[in-house]
Amino acid sequence: MKVITFFNHAGGVGKTSSVRDVGFTLAHLGHRVLLVDADPQANLTDWLGVRSVDRGDGPREITLDDTLYPAILADDGANLALPDPVRAHGLDLIPGHLDVATIEPLLPGQLMGVMRLKEALRPLADRYDFVLIDPPPSLGQLSALSVIAAQQVVVPVPASGKGLKGLKTAVQMLGRFRQANPDLTLALILVTQYNDTTNHSRESLAQLRAGFGHLAPISTPLTYRPALYPDSQLHGEPLPLYSSRSPATGEILTVTNQLLAALGVGHA
Ligand SMILES: Nc1ncnc2c1ncn2[C@@H]1O[C@H](COP(=O)(O)OP(=O)(O)OP(=O)(O)O)[C@@H](O)[C@H]1O
Ligand SMILES: [Mg+2]
Repeated sequence: MKVITFFNHAGGVGKTSSVRDVGFTLAHLGHRVLLVDADPQANLTDWLGVRSVDRGDGPREITLDDTLYPAILADDGANLALPDPVRAHGLDLIPGHLDVATIEPLLPGQLMGVMRLKEALRPLADRYDFVLIDPPPSLGQLSALSVIAAQQVVVPVPASGKGLKGLKTAVQMLGRFRQANPDLTLALILVTQYNDTTNHSRESLAQLRAGFGHLAPISTPLTYRPALYPDSQLHGEPLPLYSSRSPATGEILTVTNQLLAALGVGHA
């Protein structure tokens, strides 16, 4: 089981879209995939169309007990484990919830608290080939426990000046997280929101390759598609399912294969 966190403390860089679409593509290739929505915004959950859970007694609203929360904090301190995941589009998902945010102020009081997601995933090692974690855009506790849980990190970064600026800090922070998790590697820098009609985007991509290519493979870019991404979100479907014949689906398959190559994993 490989645990991969899509980390960038900058907001809106494509973390959630990538976790959803790369996760779906990995499952489509035959891998067993668990997604963890570690963001109180719960966009991943929403964009997979998961708006309720059904544990055999009919559909009901998602509560904090359905999220990663029980694995991180428990009132009695015992039984720290992930709940059963929900199923969506061939994927397993630990859904998100706004109140996952309460982990932020409570975790620092817990001994070894930031290790708890890693611990909670350990018993699932035989159940999944890949666990992809979607943290919030922050450098807080939820991001820390998400990155510390991983062996590999993918850093999504928009092909823009702003994207490049944030990437330096993201890479520095990975160095810090490595103190708690020495095996952590940067598997792939995933280029998102690329607009090949603008010089700005083309130049940013060239700078990315020149300035960061020695740190990790730089993916081929995911093109900026301002209609398709929101439409797929509204439908609650991964883009490759919502629009299987779109060139975007081909791009997502390409970057998924680049990630597999970076991880040293062949096709299923
Ligand atoms: N290739 C793309 N083309 C057009 N829009 C995109 C593309 N990728 C992502 N977006 C849009 O950009 C916004 C940010 O993407 P996303 O939510 O995946 O990033 P994020 O890093 O998870 O954001 P946050 O930091 O808020 O969690 C979303 O509205 C998404 O639809
Ligand atoms: Mg997100």
